[in-house]
Amino acid sequence: MQLTADQLIQFDEQGFLFFPDWFRPDEVSVLRREAERVYGLKREEVVIESSGVPRTAFAAHTYNEGFRRLGAHPRLIGPVVQILGEDVYVHQFKINAKAAFDGEVWQWHQDFGTWHRDDEMPEPRAMNIAVFLDDVTAANGPLLFIPGSHKCGVLPAGHDVETTSYPLWTLDRETVGNLADTAGIEAPTGKRGSVIMFHSNLVHASPPNISPFGRTIVYLSLCAVSNHIRRFKRTEWRAHRDFSAIQPLADDCLQELDRA
Ligand code: SIN
Ligand code: MN
Repeated sequence: MQLTADQLIQFDEQGFLFFPDWFRPDEVSVLRREAERVYGLKREEVVIESSGVPRTAFAAHTYNEGFRRLGAHPRLIGPVVQILGEDVYVHQFKINAKAAFDGEVWQWHQDFGTWHRDDEMPEPRAMNIAVFLDDVTAANGPLLFIPGSHKCGVLPAGHDVETTSYPLWTLDRETVGNLADTAGIEAPTGKRGSVIMFHSNLVHASPPNISPFGRTIVYLSLCAVSNHIRRFKRTEWRAHRDFSAIQPLADDCLQELDRA
């Protein structure tokens, strides 16, 4: 799967691309079932909100076969390799729940800001892929992006270890206000099975989920192999140390799971 010239231009300008219905309903069903299994595990990688609902499950590609396959899916890996121009490895893998009524905020941040400061990833040669396992609407806490903000480099940030159960380097209101005054804010929404690819320096956030609808999204954070992290301060399942290039699987690898 290769991106078109128009998509490459759009990615360069906006810092993200939206792919509606990238996975079929049968593929999404497999992943939704496996996500429930993962959230039911008593593992340290499954982080809980203060209200008791799951917030995120890290590294499921290392202990769940469905997510192992998603982490090497050619429809996800192909476009990232094309843009970064070299093989990639999994830096981080999360299944973010944002549960109905209780799912909490993700403050304004750049992912590379955390990876650079905490993990000493040298350059923003890394990409996020978001796979919707629920329909994402204006109501259930969609991702918010400031288009073009990936071109700003690493912005000043403070380390927030209090607001949520996940420590994050977050941007201050003045910085976000100035960027959004010029570029506005976009919130790509769509059906389960849709995918967003976004630059590791793109400024983003998401509001709490006050709706009765869950909003599970899987995030693959993929890094160019030559750009691997240099510092191992964070636990392995938050910042992986296996820098082997992902070998993409067959396109039907998810539908084949139940036949294996
Ligand atoms: C993230 O920024 O890493 C997660 C945001 C979200 O799931 O809403
Ligand atoms: Mn993020």
